[in-house]
Amino acid sequence: MSEINIITGDASEELKKLKVSSVDLVVADPPYNLGKDYGNNHDIKGFEDYLSFSREWLHEAHRVLKPSGTIYVFMGYRFISYLYDILDRQLQMFFNSWIVWHYTQGMGKIKGFSPRHDDILMFTKSQEFKFNLDKVRVPQKYYRDRNNMRGANPGDVWEFSHVHYCNGNRQNHPTQKPEGLIERMVLASSDEGDLVVDPFSGSGTTLRVCQQLNRRALGIEINPDYVTMTRDRLGGSFTGFDSVDPRMGRVPRDLRRRDIRADYLKKHKGWFLNHHENAVKKFEDSVSSTYGLSDKEPSRELTLFEEREEYEPKNRIKNDEE
Ligand SMILES: C[S@@+](CC[C@H](N)C(=O)[O-])C[C@H]1O[C@@H](n2cnc3c(N)ncnc32)[C@H](O)[C@@H]1O
Repeated sequence: MSEINIITGDASEELKKLKVSSVDLVVADPPYNLGKDYGNNHDIKGFEDYLSFSREWLHEAHRVLKPSGTIYVFMGYRFISYLYDILDRQLQMFFNSWIVWHYTQGMGKIKGFSPRHDDILMFTKSQEFKFNLDKVRVPQKYYRDRNNMRGANPGDVWEFSHVHYCNGNRQNHPTQKPEGLIERMVLASSDEGDLVVDPFSGSGTTLRVCQQLNRRALGIEINPDYVTMTRDRLGGSFTGFDSVDPRMGRVPRDLRRRDIRADYLKKHKGWFLNHHENAVKKFEDSVSSTYGLSDKEPSRELTLFEEREEYEPKNRIKNDEE
């Protein structure tokens, strides 16, 4: 069983109590200094104060990471360039990815473009870091012998919807993150039994994900009400993570041979819908609407689609592409 702990306290102070090089992965979603109301703290500091706060907790996060460790930091547009500079030049960490979390709903602007993404910096402590690509691949669009049907690299633009108010897993927290998004970080950058730390734990999303993925985890949260919320959340039953990359339900539309199709579709669930039991029915419905019952020949729509496919250039190399 995984070992999950949450403590009430300040991120820097609590990180200082951890041993040097003891943590495999840090997932940090700090307040962005945009004036959010987090109950007992109001997320509004002067510019220099916010930079000192960021420097201090990032310094501690870097200290506790193992040489093979990774940090993911969520950040808003106002401070992301400053945090990049701290990670890159001051802490001498290694840049890996600038991930864009794309969401399809949010506030509308009347003048200017409505915001539809958040940014996440991924840095590693050394160049010898852990990365489990096979655990985070996404399904290919088409079945091809030359494609890696185990899946493609998910890329650095990740689409997950916010956890909507009607979702049974929605917590009373203003910036709750989707579990599917955190799942990808945890699967890619840690193994079972590894220690994951979330210094700004909020509603406990990282801890919930780690609990289900058999990681050890420590959350730090300054607001005791959110700590209570997290404990309740960790005690709840589990029917699958609350969000999924829409590509995970993709059914390749050209699985012509019945034997290959049956084999691939069975593997699809284990590869891409593990811990997403709640998304399996939708996937099965798409399979039936594309192929009908498994012992039938492809539908007419599919035959037309196959004819169009013949025009695809034969010499394209697509081994790891979607
Ligand atoms: C952006 S939210 C994290 C949301 C979380 N990822 C989730 O999915 O619920 C930031 C959290 O940091 C907490 N916080 C603010 N200052 C803190 C500090 N100095 N130490 C620890 N937690 C702090 C806030 O109360 C808030 O819950």
